[in-house]
Amino acid sequence: MDYRALANEYGTPLYVYDFNYFNEQYNKLKEAFGGRKSLLAYAIKANSNLSVIQNFGRQGSGADCVSIGEVRRALKAGIAPYKIIFSGVGKRDDEIREAIEADILFINAESEGELKRIEVIAKELGKEARISLRVNPNIDPQTHPYISTGLSENKFGVSLNEAKRLYLFAHNSANLNPVGIHFHIGSQLTQLEPIRESSQIVADLVRSLEKVGIEIKFFDVGGGLGVKYNNEMLIEPYDYAQAILSTLAGLDVTIVCEPGRFLTANGGHFITKVLYEKQSDKKRFVIVDGAMNDLIRPSLYNAFHKIEVLGKEGASGSTVDVVGPVCESGDFLAKNIELPETGHDDLLVVHSSGAYGFVMSSNYNTRGRAAEVAIEEGKARLIRRRETFEDVVALEESYLQ
Ligand code: LLP
Repeated sequence: MDYRALANEYGTPLYVYDFNYFNEQYNKLKEAFGGRKSLLAYAIKANSNLSVIQNFGRQGSGADCVSIGEVRRALKAGIAPYKIIFSGVGKRDDEIREAIEADILFINAESEGELKRIEVIAKELGKEARISLRVNPNIDPQTHPYISTGLSENKFGVSLNEAKRLYLFAHNSANLNPVGIHFHIGSQLTQLEPIRESSQIVADLVRSLEKVGIEIKFFDVGGGLGVKYNNEMLIEPYDYAQAILSTLAGLDVTIVCEPGRFLTANGGHFITKVLYEKQSDKKRFVIVDGAMNDLIRPSLYNAFHKIEVLGKEGASGSTVDVVGPVCESGDFLAKNIELPETGHDDLLVVHSSGAYGFVMSSNYNTRGRAAEVAIEEGKARLIRRRETFEDVVALEESYLQ
């Protein structure tokens, strides 16, 4: 990829996505589930650019959404309603209403209170809402605490016992149709055993529901497959699928999987330009034009993203912090990494930025958000233009007195 040419054409900081890579990842996972009935519902929170969603839609993907905004994005990008799932721990009445009206595949309820709101709203609309329950299997996913969700100390889902009771409630309601079951124990998972164990627990619940006449059609295993940022050991898609399938003997369910990071992380690069180098008494800094408002993962999770100086890959260097212009000591893209000497206008390539990159960006310090470019069959096209100062103040300007 000619990042220099892209930077010249679209400016920096810049997100660049390789759609062909995205599709390879999609196909790898889809094939892993082989002959089984399965639906990959791309977790659009990972990268919700409309063109990215549209691209996955063209591969056959559905969408896993966590706000009505995301549901609207999925619909706008051409995902069929019957492939859309709406999850999230706190859905508003208006969001529930719109999702029922849009006739999506199912709404994933995360608490008793929410299930009962869905029932009330479906009744008002004179409809039957298809639902699933998010079950919390109380399994430690062994990942970063901020992105682990499957323990009972986390805010997500309902316990197994509660789930049983709520399925009976839904089964007996004229306005609820319990078609699915869902679990998601965390993100950036690199251990297979917690996934298999959770799947086993939830599959056993499905069996006990069957015994009382409740037939679950969709077995939703969430997302969470980890990717390589540094030197992590990864789960192979085939082993992942086998671990899940091994728990489903005798069950006639469609497997739903909600991958986000696995599909997009390593197909995205964040390109930022060197402004200055500076040496303090203790430290060498490379100051770049991209910042925590553009890519917050290093600041927020202490996440590692590999960084290279374009044209000087592999050259020896010295220890450095790569920092942005935002007025926070927490504004860094990397700490204590080795980089060769850089000069004004050198480009840094920040790897693995295709998931939870642009989507988590903000206008902090009145910085317009970066542009996004897609590469398809070697050709680049802009999929979101850079935000201007006018964009950033647009919603405030008319209120000036
Ligand atoms: N399904 C549900 C219900 C989820 O909560 C998530 C992610 C996914 C699917 C997709 O997970 P994935 O396949 O991408 O791991 N901002 C954090 C990640 C937060 C993930 C939240 N939930 C980060 O940058 O690491």
